[in-house]
Amino acid sequence: MTPGAYVHIPFCAHRCAYCSFVALEGRSEEREFFEGVEREIRSRAGEAEDKPFDSVYFGGGTPSYVEPEGLGGVLGTLEEIFGISSDAEITAEANPDDLDGDKLRALRDIGINRLSIGVQALVDSELVPLERRHDAAGAVAALGAAVPLFRSVSADLMIGIPGQTRESLKKSVDGLFSAGLRHLSVYLLEVEKAPRLVRLKASSPDLFADDDEMAARWEMVDDLCTAAGFARYEISNWARPGFESRHNLKYWTLQPTLGFGVAAHSFDGRRRTVNAGSMAEYIRLTREGRSPRVTSEELEDSPGKKERLMLGLRLAKGVPSSSFEGIRRSLPAASASRIEDAFLAGLLVRENGRVALTRRGVLLSNEVFALFV
Ligand SMILES: C[S@@+](CC[C@H](N)C(=O)[O-])C[C@H]1O[C@@H](n2cnc3c(N)ncnc32)[C@H](O)[C@@H]1O
Ligand code: SF4
Repeated sequence: MTPGAYVHIPFCAHRCAYCSFVALEGRSEEREFFEGVEREIRSRAGEAEDKPFDSVYFGGGTPSYVEPEGLGGVLGTLEEIFGISSDAEITAEANPDDLDGDKLRALRDIGINRLSIGVQALVDSELVPLERRHDAAGAVAALGAAVPLFRSVSADLMIGIPGQTRESLKKSVDGLFSAGLRHLSVYLLEVEKAPRLVRLKASSPDLFADDDEMAARWEMVDDLCTAAGFARYEISNWARPGFESRHNLKYWTLQPTLGFGVAAHSFDGRRRTVNAGSMAEYIRLTREGRSPRVTSEELEDSPGKKERLMLGLRLAKGVPSSSFEGIRRSLPAASASRIEDAFLAGLLVRENGRVALTRRGVLLSNEVFALFV
């Protein structure tokens, strides 16, 4: 199985109100960090059995915030040590406020061919409580400048932003489609993880959507995507045919991925490892020539199969019936019968030798996945 590489870039210009990703404000340790990544890549030369990589993903944090030369240096080292295939998908996440023409051309020139831009909304009054640094016009300008330069441009959009309505959400979605993007990731805002939003919800609950309203908005986005020629290929992701994210598909199908940088995860087919989540520790360990990996978990056979099943159910095409039935038979009788109830309730469907979530099942996916634990 061809592996993918993930590189976590843990720097942001500002910590947004809602975000729980591993990222530092400012970029004072950028040079030391990239030196650490270079050492880490060289020290793991023997790891990928099937080379070269056919996907590289710079996630964050904000890869567009750091010097493109740093990302280019990482690509050069990955190419030297592992190889990167000539048709590889090479993605960088980006914030609209970083994306002037010079930055976009620099990212393209180092080899980035797919940009994933965190737009969140195209309504100024919604970007304010999120503490985004860009406004709607800035995001539209960034999208317009990016689309002609990259093989694919994706946008992140959020449902459930304080003050959002169905009308304003539709305006955001329409604006994204007009900009010519090829891929869309849609996130339901998780308020619980964000103390500043928890406080806002306590003082102004009317600004927030309840579960039914969140579901109605999600269905509206799904309908708008379908009408625009985008197919939902995963719970949170829609794409024009042929523009699905090759790298993210590796996560949902449990293919090997090597993760480099602070807090990056790796999976070699059996074992999942996680790098140190603190910048100081990551820099110290890589300087000392030691592995930055601090936790390691072996996927035992049976839980491994369950995880494969749950990740597979995230995909619109679902999983083969044979593997689904194998797991179901291994569960206690009460769980197996609750799963049958999920079919009767229209949350799961058997079709063409496969089992998949229905649209209603996607909306209640956490409840469905809980049946297998
Ligand atoms: C690593 S960030 C993307 C890159 C870039 N730093 C940005 O913010 O534009 C990945 C995406 O996760 C989503 N996200 C982050 N925190 C979230 C939360 N609490 N609830 C829902 N989505 C969230 C946002 O849509 C964000 O664009
Ligand atoms: S959403 Fe993006 S820019 Fe904002 S703090 Fe998280 S990673 Fe950084």
